[in-house]
Amino acid sequence: MLFSTIALSALWTIGAVASSPQDYHQPTSKGFRMQHGFETVLVQPFGYDGFRVRAWPFRPPTGQEIGFVYDPPLEGPEDGQAHGMTFDTAFTGNQSEELRNGNMIVRTSGWGGNAGGYRLAFYRVESNGTETLLTNEYAPLKSINPRYYSWTGPGSEFAAEFSFSTTPDEQIYGTGTQQDHQVNKKGSTIDLINFNTHIPTPVFMSNKGYGFVWNMPSTGRMEFSTLRNRFTSDAANVVDYFVVSSTPGDYDTLQQRLSALTGRAPVPPDWSLGYIQSKLRYENQSEVVLLAEEFNKRSIPVSMIVIDYQSWAHQGDWALDPRLWGNVAEMAAQVKNLTDAEMMASLWPSVADNSVNYLEMMAQGYLSATRSGPGTTDSWNGSYIRNYDSTNPKARQFLWDTLKRNYFDKGIKNFWIDQADGGALGEAYENNGQSTYIQSVPFPLPDVNYAAGTQRSVGKLYPWAHQQAIEEGFRNATSSEMGSACDQVSLSRSGYIGSQRFCSMIWSGDTTAVWETLSAQVASGLSAAATGWGWWTVDAGGFQADPTVSWSANIDTPQYRELYLRWLQWTTFLPFMRTHGSRACYVQNAYTCANEPWSYGEQNTPIIVSYINLRYQLAAYIQAVFAQFHRTGRMIMRPLYMDFQSSDSRIANLTQMNSNVTTQQYMFGPRLLVTPVTLPNVTEWSVYLPKVASNATARPWTYWWTNQTYAGGQTVTVPTPVEHIPVFHLGSRADILNGKVFS
Ligand SMILES: *[C@@H]1O[C@H](CO)[C@@H](O)[C@H](O)[C@H]1NC(C)=O
Ligand SMILES: *[C@@H]1O[C@H](CO)[C@@H](O)[C@H](O)[C@H]1NC(C)=O
Ligand SMILES: *[C@@H]1O[C@H](CO)[C@@H](O)[C@H](O)[C@H]1NC(C)=O
Ligand SMILES: *[C@@H]1O[C@H](CO)[C@@H](O)[C@H](O)[C@H]1NC(C)=O
Ligand SMILES: *[C@@H]1O[C@H](CO)[C@@H](O)[C@H](O)[C@H]1NC(C)=O
Ligand SMILES: *[C@@H]1O[C@H](CO)[C@@H](O)[C@H](O)[C@H]1NC(C)=O
Ligand SMILES: *[C@@H]1O[C@H](CO)[C@@H](O)[C@H](O)[C@H]1NC(C)=O
Ligand SMILES: *[C@@H]1O[C@H](CO)[C@@H](O)[C@H](O)[C@H]1NC(C)=O
Ligand SMILES: *[C@@H]1O[C@H](CO)[C@@H](O)[C@H](O)[C@H]1NC(C)=O
Ligand SMILES: *[C@@H]1O[C@H](CO)[C@@H](O)[C@H](O)[C@H]1NC(C)=O
Ligand SMILES: *[C@@H]1O[C@H](CO)[C@@H](O)[C@H](O)[C@H]1NC(C)=O
Repeated sequence: MLFSTIALSALWTIGAVASSPQDYHQPTSKGFRMQHGFETVLVQPFGYDGFRVRAWPFRPPTGQEIGFVYDPPLEGPEDGQAHGMTFDTAFTGNQSEELRNGNMIVRTSGWGGNAGGYRLAFYRVESNGTETLLTNEYAPLKSINPRYYSWTGPGSEFAAEFSFSTTPDEQIYGTGTQQDHQVNKKGSTIDLINFNTHIPTPVFMSNKGYGFVWNMPSTGRMEFSTLRNRFTSDAANVVDYFVVSSTPGDYDTLQQRLSALTGRAPVPPDWSLGYIQSKLRYENQSEVVLLAEEFNKRSIPVSMIVIDYQSWAHQGDWALDPRLWGNVAEMAAQVKNLTDAEMMASLWPSVADNSVNYLEMMAQGYLSATRSGPGTTDSWNGSYIRNYDSTNPKARQFLWDTLKRNYFDKGIKNFWIDQADGGALGEAYENNGQSTYIQSVPFPLPDVNYAAGTQRSVGKLYPWAHQQAIEEGFRNATSSEMGSACDQVSLSRSGYIGSQRFCSMIWSGDTTAVWETLSAQVASGLSAAATGWGWWTVDAGGFQADPTVSWSANIDTPQYRELYLRWLQWTTFLPFMRTHGSRACYVQNAYTCANEPWSYGEQNTPIIVSYINLRYQLAAYIQAVFAQFHRTGRMIMRPLYMDFQSSDSRIANLTQMNSNVTTQQYMFGPRLLVTPVTLPNVTEWSVYLPKVASNATARPWTYWWTNQTYAGGQTVTVPTPVEHIPVFHLGSRADILNGKVFS
């Protein structure tokens, strides 16, 4: 066994099972095993109000398959909590069986009221004792079996398609991130393949009051159609999924249940919640020191300065090129002295054949390979590259040891794990594919093999295990345990189920610098939140120019300056405030164009600086919100359905339609309603103010910039000069600034 969640739970410090609520309905059994011909289905009570299901044809799994869920969960009932592959009831599919855990019941059923049945159906028991069907394995008469297996490769691994019932009005939230302006994913088909800016992840919450985790590392597909939700896995030895429930509308409980399975976020270092300065790219040591001097001279606070890619001599050296960075320790100390900022450096997972580490990594088997041998998994600037194998613990250790020696011990302690998508699919670098002629490769090139399996069977593990490499390194270097407060952070372009357990933020990838893309990031962040990822951020201003838009990313144009201001001011109200990108300019003042707070024109500098200062003024609030997220999984960026689905009947309706109210507005923590301006040249903006649960005050909403108060349940139009982002608050501003927002 190379890797398993069991090994991970040993690292976890708060893994103790919490005591059950007083009236908790203890599980009625440790689980059942249903034999259905050559197929076996194992169902166990899992956590509070939840079940785990594993299913397989023919040979039983070992129980050590790769998964992303804690066993036992972080919280759950003391009695009858199943572990491993345990069960206490076995039967064939010809009889009815039922198992209760808390407010959930799973029952086997068949067609048309037959006594027996091989399908599973999941119900919630309401407080009045009635049962509500949440979903069942979906098999209308004479249709494909809801659990369907096929053999497409040469080995014993099978492909699986599992179907679950849904209704036309069900709303689906989460599924990782896409760029589709959707908070409600109903109607979507989503490939479980990672791409830059797309991190599809099979975790969702339903407005019917249940959550679902498809606990599989394989590539595949998610489909949310009218009557059927279907999850497809390309290659597996076992199918593993979870269903948990809560009262409809109680998303905080649902996320607590889900995060008890998939992981709680540690508390980030306070400094990381400030302003993070980055661009493509600071070229050399003197440029970075000059940058720090400029922040110092202008008295602009900065929390971290970031060094982007190509700062190395060869890919896979995992060291700064000494020709450009003569004394790394001195630079980090100078930056610290001048600004108090930490530093972060980018690393790519790829190793070129001319890297100092290549031969040893090749010899030790630390590189991902192809089926035809070590092969090449990509090429870059005429040199072949292969990704290190994050699924191999020894490769993770090799990576970390190199990073520690070359960066960490010299004072650059935070790592940007760029290009983390795995499978060489993140971008079409393949065979120099970023040419006019090959922009995207139309087949899975290459068919990568990892220590833990093939790209098809474990490809979704790759970015997660890469985050894990840095996490293990941090924890080893600081003798701290996973789950405890973080001293350092990583920044990752990808992630997977439970990525929130790492000291690692996910950003929305290499976005284009146009209004439409700014707008799309909001729904992407809200889907990240519903997936359980709280540590989320973006490139303020967008990463790169849209080649069809002349002004895009050009810092010397009024059009881009306006977009940048709107985008940057929005990041004040994201979990992390970070700027980054590749900029164009007319007035070249560096090797690459500038992206500093003072790079966007004299009249705009004070506006940008005012938002950086506001970020620091909100420190207590943001810390309180992160602390609560750590304790209970209560989300930081909150889609409107999380807080207002019960108090405001319009919210469900607006969410269902993916109205711009629900894809553009959200709560940042419990008190701030944020609506970024996503169009140019506007002087006012319309915002829908939801009805709040408590009617303690008739006008609960206060506009941040004027202190004017408003009743909920109406659309209001507020003036939005470029220095104002529409932000409304609940409760007093003093409580927010003091961080006194949770009773
Ligand atoms: C289920 O099958 C078993 C074994 O064939 C049989 O003994 C039992 O009576 C069946 N039960 C029902 C409810 O048909
Ligand atoms: C029981 O509670 C459920 C959920 O609140 C509700 O939909 C249903 O109408 C109630 N049934 C009765 C008989 O009160
Ligand atoms: C920090 O800089 C000041 C001058 O600005 C200098 O006097 C001091 O020695 C420096 N401290 C360190 C630790 O480098
Ligand atoms: C590409 O390789 C050439 C020749 O080795 C080198 O001079 C150049 O700097 C490289 N460019 C990049 C972007 O790495
Ligand atoms: C962390 O330390 C453990 C125990 O020494 C070791 O097994 C593991 O490989 C280390 N991980 C990394 C990434 O250095
Ligand atoms: C460092 O970068 C700056 C800014 O691009 C450039 O002006 C300078 O020449 C570079 N210095 C060295 C030593 O490469
Ligand atoms: C939204 O609500 C209106 C009336 O309140 C209703 O007619 C309409 O069907 C609803 N739309 C959806 C998508 O539920
Ligand atoms: C914004 O307004 C200016 C002048 O009012 C105009 O020149 C420009 O075309 C407008 N831009 C857009 C994108 O509408
Ligand atoms: C929604 O779109 C309308 C029309 O474009 C616009 O007036 C409104 O301000 C937008 N609202 C939000 C929250 O983006
Ligand atoms: C809320 O409104 C209801 C009905 O109008 C009223 O009975 C109740 O006292 C109000 N609660 C508060 C806290 O104002
Ligand atoms: C709004 O109220 C806060 C105190 O809550 C105050 O600091 C601020 O100046 C006021 N803003 C305006 C525009 O009156």
